[in-house]
Amino acid sequence: MTALLSVRGVSCAFGGLKALNAVSFDVARGEILGIIGPNGAGKSTLFSAISGYVRPDSGEVLLDEADITGRMPEDIARRGLVKTFQTSRPFSSMTFLDNVVVASLASQKNLAGARKHAFRCLEQVGLAQHWDTPARGASTGQRKRLEIGRALATRPRIVLLDEPFGGVDFAAIDGLIALLLTIRDAGVTIVLIEHNLAAVQRFVGRLIAMNLGEKVLEGEPAKVTQDRRVVNAYLGTEDGEDA
Ligand SMILES: Nc1ncnc2c1ncn2[C@@H]1O[C@H](COP(=O)(O)OP(=O)(O)O)[C@@H](O)[C@H]1O
Ligand SMILES: [Mg+2]
Repeated sequence: MTALLSVRGVSCAFGGLKALNAVSFDVARGEILGIIGPNGAGKSTLFSAISGYVRPDSGEVLLDEADITGRMPEDIARRGLVKTFQTSRPFSSMTFLDNVVVASLASQKNLAGARKHAFRCLEQVGLAQHWDTPARGASTGQRKRLEIGRALATRPRIVLLDEPFGGVDFAAIDGLIALLLTIRDAGVTIVLIEHNLAAVQRFVGRLIAMNLGEKVLEGEPAKVTQDRRVVNAYLGTEDGEDA
């Protein structure tokens, strides 16, 4: 079976800085693939290059064999691929529900349908009881769930989650992992960036390690996290955390 997502030799430079250097990998339907690497490794840029927020300087991105390289984010979302942002910025004066309705409108014909679908997405991410709360009061964990709910509202085939556990209480991580497994079981393929190596190893099928814009290693989670090059890349930074 062909890959759902195929990234082939994607490079991206910002001025003189090579944020991505010929990165290639495939994502199979139904898998959960983790991407790890120290700050500045190019992980977020990789997601931006795939999802249309940054145009790759070279290389190709194929979604179900269709070339989506350099297309607009909305177009790529319509084709079934969305990404969440490392720092989510919900519309703070709008309710949780309305934040999801905005995303839901892309796949629904009318407002009533969009609201119904948005409510189901809120239920799926465990926020239904807060539907009428303004997003400005959301905790970090709730923001992460809201961001995932907004992504689901576009009816994606594949989601790219940029640090879905970032800044979340240790105690809330189990619930988020359970949520990701439910989403995968509902047929959505997941690629996620994560710093918490212990957490990520518990549920991803495969890991890719990046450093300095390049893919360093790809394979079984336990093997990748114990690899000397990966360990060194992590120890080479002050800490393993993004701001
Ligand atoms: N829009 C941008 N303009 C200039 N430099 C950028 C931009 N986005 C990212 N970078 C730089 O590219 C490198 C990779 O960043 P990023 O992809 O955010 O890394 P990561 O997500 O792995 O921490 C960093 O050196 C970062 O400063
Ligand atoms: Mg990042």
